[in-house]
Amino acid sequence: MLDLTGKNALVTGIANNRSIAWGIAQQLHQAGANIGVTYLPDPKGRFEKKVRELVEEPLKPSIFVPCDVQNEEQIQETFKTVAQEWGKLDILIHCLAFADKEGLSGDFSAITSEAFTKALEISTFSLGRLAREAKPLFNPGGSIVTLTYIGGVKVIPNYNLMGIAKAGLEMTVRYLAAELGAADVRVNAISAGPIRTLASSAVGGILDMIHHVENVAPLKRTVTQLEVGNTAAFLCSDLSSGITGQVIYVDAGYNIMGM
Ligand SMILES: NC(=O)c1ccc[n+]([C@@H]2O[C@H](COP(=O)([O-])OP(=O)(O)OC[C@H]3O[C@@H](n4cnc5c(N)ncnc54)[C@H](O)[C@@H]3O)[C@@H](O)[C@H]2O)c1
Repeated sequence: MLDLTGKNALVTGIANNRSIAWGIAQQLHQAGANIGVTYLPDPKGRFEKKVRELVEEPLKPSIFVPCDVQNEEQIQETFKTVAQEWGKLDILIHCLAFADKEGLSGDFSAITSEAFTKALEISTFSLGRLAREAKPLFNPGGSIVTLTYIGGVKVIPNYNLMGIAKAGLEMTVRYLAAELGAADVRVNAISAGPIRTLASSAVGGILDMIHHVENVAPLKRTVTQLEVGNTAAFLCSDLSSGITGQVIYVDAGYNIMGM
C-alpha cells in the first residue's frame, strides 16, 4: 500500500492552484506525509499570501518559508528550519523553473548569455544546490523528485532555452542518484506532458503543444497535476524502493510516438 505516514516532505514550486507542485503536495498529503512548503517571495508579499491561502487549510503545513533558489541565505535558512522543526527529512520535491520569455520563442541562436545563466541557475543548478543542504538531513529511504519535460531530450518548437535547462536537469538527476544512493536516498525525475500553468504559459504556443498531444498521444489527452502527483507519491514511497536515477514519463504515452 502507498503509505507516507510519518514522512517529512518539503515541497517547492507551489505558485497557485494550477501548479504541478500543488498536485504533488495534495497527493503526498493524502498518502499521509507531513508537508512543508517553500514559496518564491516577492517584495509586496503577494505570492506568499496566495500560496498561504491555498495550502493552509487543506495541508496544514508544519513549515512555510520563503526560498528563492537564487538567494543563498534563504536556501540555508530553509534547511535550518527543516533541521529545527523536523530534525530529519524524507522527501524533497523540486518543482520549479524559470526562463526569460525571450528564451522561450524565436531563434534558439538568439539566446543571450544573461538569459542562459539565469535559467540554468534557477532551473538546473538549484536541484544539486538544494540536494547539498538536504543530504545530511535525509533519513535512509529518502527520495528526491524533480520535474522535467520531453523538450530536454527532443526539439520542441519554442522550448529553446528550457530544453537546455531540462537536459542538464536530467543529467543532474543521474549524478545525484549515483552520489546519494550509498545513503539510501533515491533521485528521480518525472517528465510530465504539457499542462497549462503560470510557467508553461510563458512558452510560445503552449496551447498548440497541448492540442498536438491530445491528437497524437496514445491516451488522446494530456495529463493532470494530480496524475503527476500520484506518480510523485509512488516515487517517494517504499513501493519504488528499487528505482533511482530515472526519468519517468507521465505524458499519456506521447513520448513513444514517432508520428
Ligand atoms: N506545465 C507543464 O506543461 C510542465 C511540463 C513538464 C514539466 N514542467 C515543470 O514543472 C515544474 C513546475 O512548473 P509548473 O508548470 O507547475 O508551473 P508553475 O508556474 O506553477 O511553477 C513554477 C514554480 O517555479 C517557481 N520559481 C521560479 N523561479 C524561482 C526561484 N528563483 N526560486 C524558487 N522558485 C522559483 C515559481 O514560484 C513557481 O512556483 C517546472 O520545473 C516545469 O518546467 C511543467
